[in-house]
Amino acid sequence: MRVMIGTKTIIDDQVSKIIINLVNTNPKAVLGLATGSTPAGVYAALVNDHITHRTDYHLIKTINLDEYANLDTDHPNSYRTYMNNHLFDHINIRLEHTHFPDSTPFVASFLEQHPVNLQLLGIGNNGHIGFNEPGTPFESSVRLVSLSDDTLSQNARYFETPDQMPKKAYTLGISDILKVHQIILIATGPHKARIIKQMIEGPITPQLPASVLRRHPDVTVYLDHDAAALLDQSLDIYTKGGVALDIIA
Ligand code: GLP
Repeated sequence: MRVMIGTKTIIDDQVSKIIINLVNTNPKAVLGLATGSTPAGVYAALVNDHITHRTDYHLIKTINLDEYANLDTDHPNSYRTYMNNHLFDHINIRLEHTHFPDSTPFVASFLEQHPVNLQLLGIGNNGHIGFNEPGTPFESSVRLVSLSDDTLSQNARYFETPDQMPKKAYTLGISDILKVHQIILIATGPHKARIIKQMIEGPITPQLPASVLRRHPDVTVYLDHDAAALLDQSLDIYTKGGVALDIIA
């Protein structure tokens, strides 16, 4: 695991350039995408690049990490709406190449046939990745899950009234995420500092799903200075524990 610490602007710039480079060198790449406030700046940078350089997405396929259950796809809070608004409507991707986990077996067979080249991840305040809540077995694959009370209270603010927030969601599993070739996790803001410290310095445990990423051979964690604030940067873990730390700005 590599940990890169920098400003949000630098992070959005570097991560978007990695994705653009992948799209340019592998026009049929499969991108694993995330929602939430964290990746919005990366998507804005991809849109700007597409306007300026016409980076070509017409053969690119995407699979999103998660989607609410029992919510119309055109609901303003669906993750489909989020992705259309932030990215898909502004680049030349074909909407039929963009996928979300749902009640059908489609995504499981899609993943078998289309290994994901790069997965973008955020992290929930409780350490979830996708909607794999604390306690999820590392062997889990795509499925319907009940959201934890913590996640329900975190995400209810996006809905007009808290009771409109779905209590269940479809998510790729942890084993699906670990099969991806390259993973980039971004965390920004002081509210992520505690969970980031545990993810990097604490035990690898299903109680903190994101900690399992330390077992993956190609993970880069981009942190702004607020999210990195609690890391003990003098710890041996950064050299002995297979974690490399770098300050980029
Ligand atoms: C949601 C999503 C996660 C996301 C997390 C963090 O619960 N299911 O995939 O990483 O929230 O969101 P944010 O980036 O808004 O902090």
